[in-house]
Amino acid sequence: MKFVFATRNKHKVAEIQLLIPNPIRVLSLHDVHCMEDIPETTPTIEGNASQKAFYVYEKYHHNCFADDTGLEIEALSGNPGVRSARYAGEDMNEENNIRKVLNEMDGIAHRKARFKTVISLVIDGSEMQFDGLMHGSILHEKRGSNGFGYDPIFIPDGYSRTFAEMELSEKNKISHRAMAVNKLVEYLQKLA
Ligand code: IMP
Repeated sequence: MKFVFATRNKHKVAEIQLLIPNPIRVLSLHDVHCMEDIPETTPTIEGNASQKAFYVYEKYHHNCFADDTGLEIEALSGNPGVRSARYAGEDMNEENNIRKVLNEMDGIAHRKARFKTVISLVIDGSEMQFDGLMHGSILHEKRGSNGFGYDPIFIPDGYSRTFAEMELSEKNKISHRAMAVNKLVEYLQKLA
């Protein structure tokens, strides 16, 4: 049994192959000669994960899974959410995205937020979704230099360090992405 993981990130493919039982092979987009950008144009994280998985299934005729992640901040009505990667608009990069969030949170005491990952799995045209949620809060300034994205301003509940102050191995054990991946792996193990 083979699945395409709809990501350009070879490390993510290798990482997930280690977790998935042997008879199942994980292919990258490169392996199936998918070189174009896959559209992510829906208004939700669930919708984008689904859109990416169905795109590969329909165009390349492979069973597929795809992930999408966003940071949802309560005081910002769930923003940056599905727009997490490009929150700062044209000037988007991690630095500017964080700056925009901190500016918008200026003077706001209510700092609750969560990371949400959704993985969409499409097998023979039928879809299953697996999610992972990490609740926490937004700091007033950046702390730490590990990780990526919004890690320096996010403290998971029950911890005193930001994701960016944790070793990657520690973050990867507890993160929203790990939770969703564990659910996917558990499901695939039953198919193997
Ligand atoms: P993607 O769906 O994994 O590409 O994530 C979308 C955007 O959300 C990224 O560009 C990051 O800015 C942010 N993001 C996703 N996962 C994380 C995380 O684990 N920590 C911090 N930021 C993240």
